[in-house]
Amino acid sequence: MCGIVGYVGEKSALDILLEGLTNLEYRGYDSAGIAVNVKGKVELYKAEGKLQNLKNITNENREHISQSVIGIGHIRWATHGAPTTANAHPHSCNCGRVAIVHNGIIENYKELRVKLEKQGCVFRSQTDTETVAHLVASKYAETNDLTEAVRLATKEIEGAYALAVIHQDVKNTIVATRRNAPLLVGIGENEYYVASDVPAIIKYTKKAMYLDDNQIVTLTPSSMKLIDTDNNELSQKYEELPWEPVALSKMGYKHFMLKEIHEQPDVVRNVLAGKLRAIDENIILKEVKLDKDTLKNLNRIQIVACGTSLHAAMVGKYLIEDLCDIAVDVEPSSEYIYRKTVGDKNTLVIGVSQSGETADTITAIRQAKARGSHILIVTNRPDSTMAREADSLIPVSAGIEVSVAATKSYIAQVISFYLLAIHIAEIKESANKSELETIKRELILLPQKLEKVLSHKEEIQLCAKKFANSKDFIFIARGINFPTALEGALKLKEISYINATGYTAGELKHGPIAMLDESMPVLSILMKGKVYDKILSNSEEAKARNARMIALTDSDDSKLNELFEVVIRLPEINETLSPVLAIVPLQLLAYYIAEFLGKDVDQPRNLAKSVTVE
Ligand code: M6R
Repeated sequence: MCGIVGYVGEKSALDILLEGLTNLEYRGYDSAGIAVNVKGKVELYKAEGKLQNLKNITNENREHISQSVIGIGHIRWATHGAPTTANAHPHSCNCGRVAIVHNGIIENYKELRVKLEKQGCVFRSQTDTETVAHLVASKYAETNDLTEAVRLATKEIEGAYALAVIHQDVKNTIVATRRNAPLLVGIGENEYYVASDVPAIIKYTKKAMYLDDNQIVTLTPSSMKLIDTDNNELSQKYEELPWEPVALSKMGYKHFMLKEIHEQPDVVRNVLAGKLRAIDENIILKEVKLDKDTLKNLNRIQIVACGTSLHAAMVGKYLIEDLCDIAVDVEPSSEYIYRKTVGDKNTLVIGVSQSGETADTITAIRQAKARGSHILIVTNRPDSTMAREADSLIPVSAGIEVSVAATKSYIAQVISFYLLAIHIAEIKESANKSELETIKRELILLPQKLEKVLSHKEEIQLCAKKFANSKDFIFIARGINFPTALEGALKLKEISYINATGYTAGELKHGPIAMLDESMPVLSILMKGKVYDKILSNSEEAKARNARMIALTDSDDSKLNELFEVVIRLPEINETLSPVLAIVPLQLLAYYIAEFLGKDVDQPRNLAKSVTVE
């Protein structure tokens, strides 16, 4: 959460900072701010709320601010202190010469604040970050060297941080550092950029250096120096950034979420490309380094993830247990890290994450790695912290996802689990060849079926209007579609703020059924297969309690129209593959309800795309 950007060079910094913040807005949108240096004086501009408020303020002073060829900027997802202007970054010190932006949490900020207040520092915010501004200022007063001041400050701060710092007395210089929060340096011609993430700078440069933990970089228009916290100079490793700027356009759609939902057929094609070449050929997963012996000796698989990625992981569990005969546990990363987990070198730990930067999942995989487990990462960001720390990798190739509500990355993760499960089953010879071929055949047909679902979206739009004023929603399913019910409910909650819960249909009668009456919509995910009849009976039970019934089904049984107020029909699909198809109408339902209610679809309140705090 929070995004930082910085520029030092020969161009005016203002538009570069604002453009960078625009492309980082998915990381938080509680407030925004920039610090520039105009005619030798550090100036701060800050505004609470959306970035547009900051843009309005800077527009009033555009000519003046545009003179600065250096600047740092910040977009905030509030942790410590309410989302007010006073708590917006950049933060400064008593004399106003230092400006600092921060992503992360300074855990010992209270102790530091007490100490600094005793030294005469006057705090103007409730944030943890302001302590770092005062600390750097006091270290600078001792050393007269900004890099050294930042280095000494990092010795005293605990927690997670990506920091960028400027000082009025140190002309055209940015010092930046990180620990457990992402930060990269973009390299241009007589100019450097710093950013939390690639989209902030991709328009300006494709050459970059990712900072590792405890590295400190000092940037001027013509130089870059990299040291560690013990002051050893380090060599610099550059990388080519993978994206095109065009990926950040809405391409005519009203929201990124709608665009991303519509990209899903192509996402499936991309994920399969080069990995599933023919039905009678084995799956190719080059970056998965698990040989026959390792797989034979595996005693279990643990999958750690959060939110939508956790739901993709749950589908993965069904597939791997079904096809590979290996016990799989799926657990939210935030729980996994605070208990004793059992595992060793014969345990495969899979981390699933769209961003590859989710703090809880990073901690979980580090803990598992430390006890000797092989770490496989399934991520949409092959340049992320998780990907870089992985033993094996499945890059899910969904393309950049801007909407905070994950859609196409979910489908890409789920498809990756089909490929992984088949891959393991082929190596272990744990599944029937014809069963694997059936799944492969269905995978190849999926994009067309997804296109068919998307071409009937008006039907879902009507359903959304009908139910948009419901206060609560229940989603029921069984088996491999239970995660679909959870994911459908999560989508609705996060963008429409309607209370929605996913239940296994069989659990309804053990408590939740008490909530049912004529005001409660129950959406049954009724895909043909092993549990179809069971879910149908559970739906009858709900109907008998007067719930408003909606079916999502690939059955053409006309009798369903008697039981259900609305029947959303899907193309027929093999039950094992059905989660991929069934989630799309639920994404659309959530989208259209939120849109109908006038919610901020792409940037729902209180959320951020990349959750980099524990
Ligand atoms: O980047 P990650 O996949 O690790 O993120 C995990 C969750 O924060 C994320 O899935 C979140 O639940 C999304 N808002 C879901 O739409």
